Amino acid sequence: MSENKSRFNSRFAAIMAMAGSAVGLGNIWRFPYMVGEHGGAAFIIVYIAFCILVSLPIFIAESTAGRVSRKEGYSIMNKVAPVTILASFIILSFYSVVGGWSFDYLIRSFAGGFSGKDIAEAKEVFAGMNGSVVENVSCMLVFLGMTAMIVVAGVDKGIGRFSKISIPVLFIMVVLIAIESLRLPGSGKGIEYLIRPDWSKLNGPAIAAALGQSFFSLSLGVGSIYTYASYMREEDSVLRAGGWTAFFDTAFALLAGLAIMPAVFAAGIEPGAGPSLVFETLPVIFSRMGVVLPVIFFLAILIAALSSSISLLEVVVSWLVHSRGMRRRYAVLLVFFSAAFLGSACAVAPKVFAACDFLSSNVFMMIGALLFALITGWILPREEVMRHVRYRFAYALIRYVAPVMIVAIAVTNLL
Ligand code: PHE
Repeated sequence: MSENKSRFNSRFAAIMAMAGSAVGLGNIWRFPYMVGEHGGAAFIIVYIAFCILVSLPIFIAESTAGRVSRKEGYSIMNKVAPVTILASFIILSFYSVVGGWSFDYLIRSFAGGFSGKDIAEAKEVFAGMNGSVVENVSCMLVFLGMTAMIVVAGVDKGIGRFSKISIPVLFIMVVLIAIESLRLPGSGKGIEYLIRPDWSKLNGPAIAAALGQSFFSLSLGVGSIYTYASYMREEDSVLRAGGWTAFFDTAFALLAGLAIMPAVFAAGIEPGAGPSLVFETLPVIFSRMGVVLPVIFFLAILIAALSSSISLLEVVVSWLVHSRGMRRRYAVLLVFFSAAFLGSACAVAPKVFAACDFLSSNVFMMIGALLFALITGWILPREEVMRHVRYRFAYALIRYVAPVMIVAIAVTNLL
């Protein structure tokens, strides 16, 4: 019954859904800032190398596990479930808080709420929103509600359809913002910030950050890719899906950098980290360029966040449906209410938010990625794995390089 319905009906839907999961808040505000912080082009080169040598193999390992697992009635999921279910659930909860902010800001920019404001005033707006429990929690609930509505509509009709339309539109929007941003006088400094290689900044923590960022950005280790891959048609290749997803994800991160940094520097502002960049600096800069640009910007962030959050919700829903025999509708409801609970805690207590962020991206994701590499590299039968992985060197990357790198980075982080 529900087994047959859980399918993407085309290769395009599967690839757009995976790209949608990958492209998210991580690309829009974390990547551009990290690049500037950790040495510009030097960081980008290391990031891309990690992407090809470690993250892409793990992507292929995780999706191979999903493909094999479907045939066996999702038995693999039961082994990794404690890690992936917890990780995706926690990320979903704090991600929804930020998703709620983008919804809030989309409405504000529709109402022209930032025109004529300076950065100090924008800071007040952000603090006001953040300080209002009602506003913060209700926006989080709206975002989580939108996520649940897409997921409850089903794999192909909900997730597939949403991704097929929204991801191409998202790319067009970001290209438009980048063009506008690059046309500003003084934008050259922003490009310089992104690309001038400064090898002296490329120390141990910067290298660890590059790997961590590429895991987060490709949605690895929490079961999103595993789950989506299990919904692919038999004839569609995980190698191809992985290649396209990694390509879109990296291209989108670079584009986001080009959309954001030139505008920041043209305004003569030092780029700040995280929320302050997206929710304090940029609304002001973009609203100097008209009413439309801020709307496009926050709509883009909202779509990017939604296409990622549906892949997080689907991990838990898929597990409840396929391993616990729950009806899809009830599974979505159950996860919605549980995430609303933890999400509210994240919305009102910054400490809970930070703990969820830290635990999921530094601990659970690493363990999850390691588990998937080990399961596909060492536990699943070789012939079965090679039907999906195809190349011997890719298999070797999964078996040796990926696990060793994860452990090395984990040790570096601990020291
Ligand atoms: N890849 C998403 C981003 O860059 C985050 C994410 C992580 C989504 C794990 C799903 C699973 O924002």
